[in-house]
Amino acid sequence: MSKKLKILVTGAAGFLGSHLSEKLALLGHEVVGIDSMIGGYEDNVPKNITFHKMDCCDLKSVQRIMKEIEVVYHCAATAHEGLSVFSPFEITRNNFLASVGIFSAAVNEKVKRIIFCSSMARYGSQVTPFSEKMNPSPVDPYAISKVAAEQVLINLCELNKIEWVIAVPHNIIGPRQKYDDPFRNVVSIMLNRMLQGKAPIIYGDGEQKRCFSYIDDCLSCLVPMLDQKNLNKQIINIGPDEEFVTINKVAEICSNITGVNLNPIHKKDRPREVKHATCSADKARELLNYKTTVSLQDGIKKTFDYIKKRGVRPFNYHTEIEIKNDLTPETWKKREI
Ligand SMILES: NC(=O)c1ccc[n+]([C@@H]2O[C@H](COP(=O)([O-])OP(=O)(O)OC[C@H]3O[C@@H](n4cnc5c(N)ncnc54)[C@H](O)[C@@H]3O)[C@@H](O)[C@H]2O)c1
Repeated sequence: MSKKLKILVTGAAGFLGSHLSEKLALLGHEVVGIDSMIGGYEDNVPKNITFHKMDCCDLKSVQRIMKEIEVVYHCAATAHEGLSVFSPFEITRNNFLASVGIFSAAVNEKVKRIIFCSSMARYGSQVTPFSEKMNPSPVDPYAISKVAAEQVLINLCELNKIEWVIAVPHNIIGPRQKYDDPFRNVVSIMLNRMLQGKAPIIYGDGEQKRCFSYIDDCLSCLVPMLDQKNLNKQIINIGPDEEFVTINKVAEICSNITGVNLNPIHKKDRPREVKHATCSADKARELLNYKTTVSLQDGIKKTFDYIKKRGVRPFNYHTEIEIKNDLTPETWKKREI
């Protein structure tokens, strides 16, 4: 094992942060996790880490918790891309301001490295496959907040000689993903609805192209970012990139797995939704030996098993919609999900 490190993982009650913090602690590191609980689940928090309920925007508390931390993984976010078009204030607060709070305290503590979870949304609607060489071209407030956070990270780290790595995951699926959030996580929403005997909801024609990583394949890239030397100052897409899938196909797979065969309900396109989002994972293959080990079918099955075991839940409209007008999806305004 590499040297034992004291690591802060933000968003530790969330999907990615909980898996990541648990894995790092299993590898023998001392892990401190924080989460404001605006998302995530309490039962996600791993037993082998020290956990504090804390908002990343609470700078004084973050500065306190940062003492003696050597590496920071910043996973906390409200990763609500579609909703960000209608609740830009809340989403920007938890993506941009929260990130600046974490980076400020980490730089002050002179941590060795900061790893930031950005998003494929940074590439916007450019021609696919997205490559790290492309300039960011965000098309909605979520993506803008991620790109702005990346820029502040690089700016502060360069001046203060702190190492940085930016991870750029695709949609991720697997156990512990929030499935009662009506605003995000298409696979989990479809499964939670189907388990309640309801048809999947699709925005637009369903021909949007996406890629989905199973959580373990994403973790296999994130873990070496901790201390692998040649990763400093790298922006790295995390695959898969072998094949893409349409949202119509995702609904079909969910239908086959749940055995609920109802015709999808098609709603109007969501404003600003990127039509095609696929990437090149060549850099991850080269630097991190990235491999896709879990197929989409198996990943959805594992997500289904988790939801079934934990129990279906009604959808929780946890965030106020700030902009309500003709463009706001009716599914959210009228709480139809
Ligand atoms: N899951 C995906 O498909 C995906 C894809 C690309 C990028 N990402 C990025 O990966 C990271 C993790 O995503 P996830 O799917 O695990 O999301 P998640 O919602 O499951 O977890 C995020 C956690 O952050 C917490 N949080 C939000 N605002 C906070 C704040 N101000 N202070 C403290 N905690 C706060 C939430 O309570 C939640 O538990 C995010 O940065 C997201 O943008 C996720």
